[in-house]
Amino acid sequence: MNSSDFQNFLLSRSSVREFSDREIDPDDLMYIMDCAGTAPSAGNRESWDVVIVSEQGLREDLSDAAFRQEHIMDAPVILVVSANYVRSMSQYGERGIMYAIQDATIACTYMMLAAHSKNISSCWTGAFDEETVTEILSLPPHARPVALLAIGYGHLPSCRTERMPVLEHIHEEIW
Ligand SMILES: Cc1cc2nc3c(=O)[nH]c(=O)nc-3n(C[C@H](O)[C@H](O)[C@H](O)COP(=O)(O)O)c2cc1C
Repeated sequence: MNSSDFQNFLLSRSSVREFSDREIDPDDLMYIMDCAGTAPSAGNRESWDVVIVSEQGLREDLSDAAFRQEHIMDAPVILVVSANYVRSMSQYGERGIMYAIQDATIACTYMMLAAHSKNISSCWTGAFDEETVTEILSLPPHARPVALLAIGYGHLPSCRTERMPVLEHIHEEIW
């Protein structure tokens, strides 16, 4: 893949919130997990975990926890990505909190892009009640859910969203 292919790959992804009933092949799911496993992490501590949720009742509960966002119920699989505080804080103390959140979000980004490379659509979902998600999935106290990544096959071709000019993000030398 050259740099132009890479940029086109990024440009061709957008969030999808309507999914067909088509299941995700277990091999594709494992491919997504393997890709996430290559993500960088602070001190190589890999301070993230994921719960793969496909059971309908759990998806309905997660949708409720995500303020009734329907795509959480519709997608065949929800990847609930958590920061693992024990793994990072045992080495980095308080700073480990920030590292674990970064590790989890990078891993989730890799999952999203790995899914896209298999033509599997996704919607990163950050609006949810953390305590409720923790309860539904019996997450341990050292796991903090940071994202629900809904994945599946989109009904419609996704359409690209606008972005602000990238120059507005950039500051040279000092802000
Ligand atoms: C941290 C984060 C939280 C998000 N939370 C939600 C959400 O709760 N519900 C939702 O429908 N989309 C959510 N999104 C998806 C964004 O709305 C979407 O990425 C953004 O509008 C850009 O569109 P695109 O992904 O199609 O490029 C979230 C994305 C990120 C990165």
